[in-house]
Amino acid sequence: MAGGSSQAAPSPAYIVYVPVRFLVVTLVGSVFLAFAVGQAARLFVTGGYEQIPFVEVEEEKGILPHPVMQNGKKVPRTVYTSKHYDTGKSVTSDSLLARQELQSANKEWVECIDSEGGGKICHNEEHPSDPSIEQNEEEEESEHEPAGQHLLVDIENLEGAFLNSKERLARAMMDLVDLSGLTMLSYHCHELEPAGVSCAGVLLESHVSFHTWPAEGVITLDLFTCGPASLVPYIPVVQRLFSIGKSPTFEGEEVEPPHMLWSYKRRGFRNEEVYDAAGGDMYNYLLGVMEFENKTQIAAVKTDFQDVEIFDLIHPRFRTVEQYQKSISNDGSYESKHPELFLPDRIVYLDGVMQSRRYGEAAYHESLVHPAMFANPNPEYVAIIGGGEGATLREVLKHDTLKQVIMIEIDKGMVDMSKKYLPDWNYCGNIAGSTESCFDDPRATVYYQDAIQWFIDHYSPGKESGKEPKLDVIIMDALDPGNNVDFSDLLFDNEAFAKALHNSLNDGGVFIAQTGEAANLEDPSKMNSRERYEFIFKTRLAEAGFQTMKEYEDAHGGFNGVWSFFAAFVNSSTKSRWHANEAEINLAIRKRMRSTTAGKSPLVYFDGATMQSYQYPSKAAEVVFCRTVPDAFGCNRTHGIDPRIYDVPTSDLEVKASLVDSAKHGVFAKVDIVEGSYLAIKEQTRDIFIPPSTYELIYNFTQHPAGYQHSFFTSFLKGYGCGHHYFGGVGRSVDPGLLAFTNHGCNSNYNLGPMQDVNEMNADENSLPERSPLDWETAVNNPFIDRNVRVLMHSLGYANRDIPAGTEIQDNLLNYAGTLEQWKNTVLDLRAQCSTEEEVVVSE
Ligand SMILES: *[C@@H]1O[C@H](CO)[C@@H](O)[C@H](O)[C@H]1NC(C)=O
Ligand SMILES: *[C@@H]1O[C@H](CO)[C@@H](O)[C@H](O)[C@H]1NC(C)=O
Ligand SMILES: *[C@@H]1O[C@H](CO)[C@@H](O)[C@H](O)[C@H]1NC(C)=O
Ligand SMILES: *[C@@H]1O[C@H](CO)[C@@H](O)[C@H](O)[C@H]1NC(C)=O
Repeated sequence: MAGGSSQAAPSPAYIVYVPVRFLVVTLVGSVFLAFAVGQAARLFVTGGYEQIPFVEVEEEKGILPHPVMQNGKKVPRTVYTSKHYDTGKSVTSDSLLARQELQSANKEWVECIDSEGGGKICHNEEHPSDPSIEQNEEEEESEHEPAGQHLLVDIENLEGAFLNSKERLARAMMDLVDLSGLTMLSYHCHELEPAGVSCAGVLLESHVSFHTWPAEGVITLDLFTCGPASLVPYIPVVQRLFSIGKSPTFEGEEVEPPHMLWSYKRRGFRNEEVYDAAGGDMYNYLLGVMEFENKTQIAAVKTDFQDVEIFDLIHPRFRTVEQYQKSISNDGSYESKHPELFLPDRIVYLDGVMQSRRYGEAAYHESLVHPAMFANPNPEYVAIIGGGEGATLREVLKHDTLKQVIMIEIDKGMVDMSKKYLPDWNYCGNIAGSTESCFDDPRATVYYQDAIQWFIDHYSPGKESGKEPKLDVIIMDALDPGNNVDFSDLLFDNEAFAKALHNSLNDGGVFIAQTGEAANLEDPSKMNSRERYEFIFKTRLAEAGFQTMKEYEDAHGGFNGVWSFFAAFVNSSTKSRWHANEAEINLAIRKRMRSTTAGKSPLVYFDGATMQSYQYPSKAAEVVFCRTVPDAFGCNRTHGIDPRIYDVPTSDLEVKASLVDSAKHGVFAKVDIVEGSYLAIKEQTRDIFIPPSTYELIYNFTQHPAGYQHSFFTSFLKGYGCGHHYFGGVGRSVDPGLLAFTNHGCNSNYNLGPMQDVNEMNADENSLPERSPLDWETAVNNPFIDRNVRVLMHSLGYANRDIPAGTEIQDNLLNYAGTLEQWKNTVLDLRAQCSTEEEVVVSE
C-alpha cells in the first residue's frame, strides 16, 4: 500500500507489473516469430487429431514461441495481469500473451498502458463484441458444470539440455495445447538457478504448468481444463512431445529410455447421475493411480449402448516392467518360461465400471457359470444374458452335456470390441471340439437383442412362442444391481421379466447372476443402500415362483473387493446338488466337461472344494440380510442357541425303563430342571449328519438282499434322528447322545421343545400347521438359515416347563416334520403309537 493513493488506484485485477526485459522480448520477438510459428502450428492442427502429426520445429535459441490463435480462433476479450518478483533464483523470466495471426490482424493486438506503481495494463481490444464468440459461449453454457479434467504426468530419464531449455519446453507446451485443441492465452516461464525451468500457461480452458530437474532428467507436468472432454486421448501426445530421451555420451553406452507415469482426476462437481453411473470406478482405481506402469488406453469406443474402454497396465505390486520385458525375451529366465504370468493386466470398463480384467477373469467367469451348471443334473440348453466379452460363453461351452447355448447381448459393438481386443476372453481353441473363437462354436447362438424383451416374447407364461427350447440354466452376466441407472428398473424390478425367466426353465432349472460387490458388515439395509435393486430382484424372482436361492461370494475375480453372486432354483430339491460334497463335484467335472486339446481339465479355478466354499454365505451377507428383513426367521436370535441359557449336562440325566407303555427306554431328569433350560445341547450339536443323497444310498443299500441285515442302521437313523429337508430331498440328522432315547409325549404331554396347539390326535395329517417349528426349511432365501442350519436342527431342545427330578423327558416329535409328506407319516405313526397299537420304532 505504501505511496499509493487509495482513490486513484485502479482495481488490483487490472494491474500488471511488466519488467522491461519482458516488453523487449515480447514486442520484438513476437513480430519476427509470429508468422513462422503460426505456419508451423497450423500444420499440426489441420492434420486432425486422429493421427496427431508432429513436426519438428528447429530450436531458436533465446527466442520463445508466441501463443498465436489458430484456425480461425479469436482471442477473446482478455485483460492480462501479471507480476514478477525478482528473487535472484530465476535467471530469466518471460511472459508472452496471445495474439491474432498477422494476416487477419487489423488492429494492434495488445495495448499496454503505464499504470501507477510501475506496472502495465495490457488490454486486448480485438473483438469488443464479436457475435460468434458470444454464441459459442452460449453453447458451452448449456453443459457448463463447475468441473474439470486434471492430467498429471511425470517423466524421468529425459535429456538434460531439453529440460534446461526454456525455448524447447515452451514450444512443447504450446504444441501440446494446440494439438489438444486448447487455446493458450498467455504463459510465463522462469529459467531457474542453477538449473531447471518452471512454466505456467493460462489457457482459455484453465491452465498448464510444469517444472523440470535437468540434472535428474525429470519433468512433472499438469494440465487442467474446465471442459467435459476427457484428456486421456492426449496422453500419447504429451508422451511424444516431452519424452526426449538421453543420447549415449559414448558409443555403446546404455541409456535408460524415458519412463512416464500419469494420473488423471476429474475435479469439481458434476451432474450427480452421470457421476453415479460410473461410480468413480475407472477414475479412482485406474486413471487416478500414478504408480501403474505402462498404463495405456488400448481402445475407447462409444457403441450404440455404452462407452467401452480398455486399458493395459502393469501393477508394480505384482509384477515389474523388467519382468515383463524378460518374459518376452528368450533369455531362459523364469519369466521367459512363464510369459503368461507376466503379461500387462488388461482391464475392461463399461460406462466407467470395471467389468473384467485379465488377472481374475477366469476365476470370475468360472465362479459365475459352474455352480449353476453343476447344480443342474444335465444342462443341455443354456441362456446367457449379456456377457459381451464372450468369457461366460467360453465357460458354458466347456460342458459336454451342452446342446445349445443362447447368448442374448444387446450390444453388438461390445462383442466386436471383445473379438478384437479381448481374444483371450473368447478363446475356445483349446477346448476339444470347439472353435478358435467361442462365438463360432456351432453350439453357440448369439442374438443381438434386448434380453428382457427376448425372454418376455418367448417365455411369458401362457404366451410362449415355442420357438426356443426350455432352458436348464440361465446365467445373467449383466449390470451390477449397485449401479442405479435408468435401465435398473427394467431389469430388476420387472414382474413380467421375472415370470418369463421362471417359466423358461425346466423343473431342475437354475438361474444364476452376479450381484456386484459383496456386502460388508457395516452396510445398511439393502433398501437403504445402492444395492436396493439386488433385494428387489430377488423378491421379484421369489414371487415368480423360484423356490430357493443361495448367495455366495468369491474373492479372486480381480475386482477391488469380494464379489457376490446368487443362484435361484425352480425346484428346491435341486439344492441337493448345490450341497454335494467335493468328491461328488470333482467326479461330475471329470464326467461332464470337455477336456482341453492337451487332455487336461478345462477349468483353472472351479472344483469341488471351491464349490464347498460357496455353500455357506458370508457373515456379512447374513447381517445385512437381517438388517433388510429384520423379521425374517432367525434374525432375532443368537445363532439358534443362546449361550446365556443354562444347559443341563448329561450327568444330570439318566436312561432307564420308560413309563411310556410302548417304549422300552426313556430319559429321566436326576435333578430339578428349570423351565427354559437346554437339555444336553452340547451333545446334541455333535450330530451324525447324513445329506439327502447319502441317505438315499444307505436306504438303497439296506433294501438290497445282501445289505438287509444292516437295516438296523436305517432304523437308527429314522428312529433316533430327525429328518431334514433343507438340503433338497430328505436327509437325516441323529443326536448320538443319551437324549436320543427320548420318547414322544402323547396328548401334548411333552416337556421338551416348543408347545404347539396341535398334537398327533387333533392334527390334520393332510395339511401342515400354520407355523411349524421347522418351517424355516421352506424359506426361499435366508442366509441366517444357510449359515446356522446344523444348530437350528437341535435348538428345539429346551424345557418348556419346570421338570422335577425323576420325571421322564418327553419330546414332541411332530416338530421334526418339515414337509407335508413327513408330517403325514409322522402324524399317523405317532397316532398309532399313542393309541398303543404299535411299538415305538426305536425300541424294536
Ligand atoms: C512400458 O514401460 C517401459 C518402461 O517405462 C518402456 O520401456 C516400455 O516401452 C513400455 N511398454 C509399453 C508397451 O508401453
Ligand atoms: C421338484 O422335484 C422333485 C424331484 O424331482 C419332484 O418330485 C417334485 O414334484 C418337484 N416339485 C415341483 C413343485 O415341481
Ligand atoms: C423372534 O421372533 C419370533 C417371531 O416374531 C418370536 O416368536 C420369538 O419369540 C423371537 N425370539 C426372540 C429370542 O426374541
Ligand atoms: C436308489 O434306488 C432307486 C430305485 O432303484 C434309484 O432310482 C435311485 O437312483 C437310487 N439312489 C441312489 C443314490 O443310488
